[in-house]
Parts: sequence; structure tokens; C-alpha cells
Amino acid sequence: MNYEKWVRHFDRNSKNRPEPDWDAPLKLTGRMLKKLTCSIQQFQLGDGGGPAYLIAWNRDRYLSDPAVKRVIDLWFNEEKEHSRLLGGMLRRLGAEEIQSHWSFSLFCGVRRFLGVRFELQALLGTEIVSNVYYKMLRKHGEDAALRGMCDLIISDETGHISFHRSRLADEGGRGKFGARWSALFRLRALAAGTVLWVNHRGALVALGGNDAEFYRWIWRDTDAFINRLRREAFRSEAVRRVEKGVSAGIVGI
Ligand SMILES: [Fe+2]
Ligand SMILES: [Fe+2]
Repeated sequence: MNYEKWVRHFDRNSKNRPEPDWDAPLKLTGRMLKKLTCSIQQFQLGDGGGPAYLIAWNRDRYLSDPAVKRVIDLWFNEEKEHSRLLGGMLRRLGAEEIQSHWSFSLFCGVRRFLGVRFELQALLGTEIVSNVYYKMLRKHGEDAALRGMCDLIISDETGHISFHRSRLADEGGRGKFGARWSALFRLRALAAGTVLWVNHRGALVALGGNDAEFYRWIWRDTDAFINRLRREAFRSEAVRRVEKGVSAGIVGI
């Protein structure tokens, strides 16, 4: 995998980040404000709050390659930035940050216990469904600061999802991501989406979203991820074959 490409991506992405207009007039009131506040509190903890790093028991082996560790550090730096932005939103809404939530504690416990491969897979699922959450907030939340914050986070999360796609494409040949793999991946994304929806439906519905929209978006983004992954895996394998052929030719000479 071309880690340098991702270092350049994160470096580029750290520039030109307009701070949301936290002091813009706030028009959200009543139930909408209350539900949104609870939802943002949970996201502030879960999206870059808490440990904000790989926490699986066997992560050290995965991080022993300095190139891998550098990119993972840069990825989590962006996650920490999401927590900062969400904290800014909470101050705007007049609410405190929370220190724990059962769903986040459970998620961290499972990640610790099941190992780094599972953790990366679970975090990818979370990135896809969280991105849908932010896209729905961006669409329905009529608030300048909320939209400014979502623009930044959606752009970052889209990059994170691409990073995971490159990582997976590099790991598996084109045959790996067939119908069985895709069905399982879709199922996991729907499960992750449902966990998110249970906790955040109130806020998104209060703002104007609905169940069908949420699940349609999850399905569409998961589909797009799988299709692009297959294309990338095909390209990666072609490159590997050419490189193998060239090195075999050199040895032959
Ligand atoms: Fe994030
Ligand atoms: Fe992310």
C-alpha cells in the first residue's frame, strides 16, 4: 500500500479548514434542540473522544511498521478534531460534554477483546454509517454552524472511508470481494446502522429525516464502497502481477 500517498492526503486535508460560525444566530428550539443536543453529546464522545486510537489487545503488532503507524496516527488526529468540533457545537447548544455512554463503552470493550483486524473492520462500518448521520444532519439541520461542522467532518470521513478501501484492496486479490463477502459486509453495515439509528433516530427525525431515507443512504453508500473496492482490488492485483513479472524477468536476466 502506498502509505506516502495517505500521508500527503492527511497533510493536504489539514489545510484550509474554515471554522464553523459558532456565533451565528441559533434558530433550533424545543424538541429539535433537545434531541439534537443528546445526539451530539454521544457523537462528541464516540467520534474522536474517549481513547481515539486503536485499542485492540494485539494492536502493537499491526503498528510495528512505522509507515502504518504514521498513517494511523494521522487518521486518529482527524478523529480527535471531530470531537473538538462537536464540543464547539455543544457549547453553542448550551450543553456539557458527557464522559461515558453505554453504547460507546460496549463498542470499546468489543474492540479491545476481538483484536485489531476486527477493530479495523468495525471502525470502517462506523465510518460509513456515521457519514450518513452527518449527511442527514447537514441536509435537515437548518443551522449555519451545524452545516459548517458537517461539511468538515463529511469531507474527512469520506477520506477515511477511501483509506480503508485502499487498505482492503491491497490486502485482498480481486477474488476476495465476491458475493459472500459483500453480503456479509452489507449485513454488518446494516447492523452498525441500526445501532446508530436506535440512539440517534430521535434527533434526525426531529430535524426532518426518516427511516427510509437513512436506510436508503446506508445501502447506497455501502454499495458504492463495495463496487469501488472491487475495482481497486482488481487494479492492485494487476500492479502486483506486473511487478512480479518484472522482478522475475530481472532474476532471469
Ligand atoms: Fe470521525
Ligand atoms: Fe473517521
